[in-house]
Amino acid sequence: MAEAEKNLPHDTDAQEGTVRRRDFINIAAVSVAGVGAGAAALPLVRQMSASDDVLAQASIEVDIASIEVGQAIKTSWRKQPVFIRNLTAEEIAEAKKVDVAGLRDPQTLDERTQPNKENWLVTLGVCTHLGCVPLGAAAGEVKGEYGGYFCPCHGSHYDTAGRIRKGPAPTNLVVPEFTFVSDTVIKIG
Ligand code: FES
Repeated sequence: MAEAEKNLPHDTDAQEGTVRRRDFINIAAVSVAGVGAGAAALPLVRQMSASDDVLAQASIEVDIASIEVGQAIKTSWRKQPVFIRNLTAEEIAEAKKVDVAGLRDPQTLDERTQPNKENWLVTLGVCTHLGCVPLGAAAGEVKGEYGGYFCPCHGSHYDTAGRIRKGPAPTNLVVPEFTFVSDTVIKIG
């Protein structure tokens, strides 16, 4: 996820501070990283490595059972916001009817979701323009002209598959590596 890590947000804390608590579900993420994997490393190597708290979030598991259809949540992975969205049938249909050949960053919804789990859209909550945190995960937030996410920093609009459709962002919202541990738990990283 080297590309993802380049897109560090400028204002995660400020954005989170504006979100109304009752509209927003923060799911506690459980770290499953092998922090001890490098325990035998030499002190010099240790000084050059990432800090323990970063290593501790190399992968996370998120319980998605409480995310209702049409709802999204934000969690955090490797110190970056992650949006997890349970797409409605209408949003899926909207994403699928798009002619991907005409997109700036051509990708189908299937390419951005897991097989038979196309309703679960998992993306970094980091605009690919300059790294702001887009709106649209919390209830009542502006979702932009294409019903997905909207970055008000410079006006990037993402669709219901998290694809860039309008504005300066060069690429789609990044889909991190993730797998389903079960029907209700995903592992990111
Ligand atoms: S950072 Fe999102 S549009 Fe500029």
